[in-house]
Amino acid sequence: MKVVHTIKDLQAELTVLRAQGKKVGLVPTMGALHAGHASLVKRSVSENGVTVVSVFVNPTQFNDKNDLEKYPRTLDADCRLLEECGADFAFAPSVSEMYPEPDTRQFSYAPLDTVMEGAFRPGHFNGVCQIVSKLFDAVLPDRAYFGEKDFQQLAIIREMVRQLKYNLEIVGCSIVREEDGLALSSRNTRLSAEERENALNISQTLFKSRNFAATHTVSETQKMVEDAIEAAPGLRMEYFEIVDGNTLQKISNWEDTSYAVGCITVFCGEVRLIDNIKYKE
Ligand code: PAF
Repeated sequence: MKVVHTIKDLQAELTVLRAQGKKVGLVPTMGALHAGHASLVKRSVSENGVTVVSVFVNPTQFNDKNDLEKYPRTLDADCRLLEECGADFAFAPSVSEMYPEPDTRQFSYAPLDTVMEGAFRPGHFNGVCQIVSKLFDAVLPDRAYFGEKDFQQLAIIREMVRQLKYNLEIVGCSIVREEDGLALSSRNTRLSAEERENALNISQTLFKSRNFAATHTVSETQKMVEDAIEAAPGLRMEYFEIVDGNTLQKISNWEDTSYAVGCITVFCGEVRLIDNIKYKE
């Protein structure tokens, strides 16, 4: 696997491989890679002749400076994992490589980006679209892989691709969980042992709510989750919304949609964790 730091070097490599008829898969990441990322990379390796994994902590998507500073940066370990997964290129650019000048572009995909994360993290999705579009322009992938844990991000990227007519396929991949159910996240490394234990209540509550939902209304299910998180030690819920998985708008009745998803964000100590569960699909 080659580690490349500039767009020019990456494009020189990819031009040769594309001329050999190879399809290019891109897995955008911010590093601190775990088994969830590994599953995206392995999928790309199995579906494309070339896999590029970008490792870049994108400053424009952080609305909290503290969160940006604390975001784990582990390029050497990331490269070892990527090598094991069979990736061909780790693309690890500097901030000035990706943003030689401030990016003033505005991406607006309302109402997808105004709810949930969009409401609590102003500017976050604009930053995500800025970097993801730059990566698409630099790599020109045939396919790009994103995890469903960031459910709203995936919906917004699909919409960006649709509106800007990018000629590529977005592949959404299922959430990867620890054996006990906690959704894998780079942020999990910041949890103390006690917080890790507390965090488990998030996925457990979501799993319970799926059974509960089968015999209860949307608002009863909403309340069941809110109450369970409130009662759990060390957790503070930011939001839980049961939405239509395509429009991301709240639903009132299960009959409102054939695709119902519960999206949750919870602070566990200082660490902000997100997760989701599909009630209907
Ligand atoms: O999901 C992430 O890790 C990031 O938001 C992404 C898509 C790599 C853009 O920085």
